[in-house]
Amino acid sequence: MKEDKNLHDYEFTNDQYSQLDEIIDKYGKSQKNLIPMLEKIQQILGFIPISIQERIAQKTGISENDIYGVVSFYSYFTMKPRARHRIQLCLGTACYVKGGKEIAETIESMLNIKQGESTPDGRFTYEEARCFGTCGLAPVMSIDGNVYGKVKVEDLEEILSQYK
Ligand code: FES
Repeated sequence: MKEDKNLHDYEFTNDQYSQLDEIIDKYGKSQKNLIPMLEKIQQILGFIPISIQERIAQKTGISENDIYGVVSFYSYFTMKPRARHRIQLCLGTACYVKGGKEIAETIESMLNIKQGESTPDGRFTYEEARCFGTCGLAPVMSIDGNVYGKVKVEDLEEILSQYK
């Protein structure tokens, strides 16, 4: 994954780099501030590609591996730009056994993308997630933070059509 060349190929404006450096200065070099610092950076840039992780490492002295480890571990963080709408489908145990897998396959075929990818028109990013803590509503899906419970395959078209 780290060798994925596409993850290096993003360009940012000088203004974005200045904002980035301000955030890094504000949070300092302590590893315990790494997660809040990355959250802030993602709010500004939208995602945290490898090139940005390298810059953070250079300026803070925190190792690139540690930064990469955090960004790749938490599903909140992304190394690729996201589309306008973010679909997160829970594939935790309860959701999986109550039809989550079929919903996953249907979303992938409707949008013609795989989990972790975005549609070429920039409309949807589709991600699989772990338990949302609302297993009683399984299977559960969230779009831009709006939670849909007891989702059925036949509901998907109607739900997705609400997001342009
Ligand atoms: S397993 Fe899906 S919400 Fe808990």
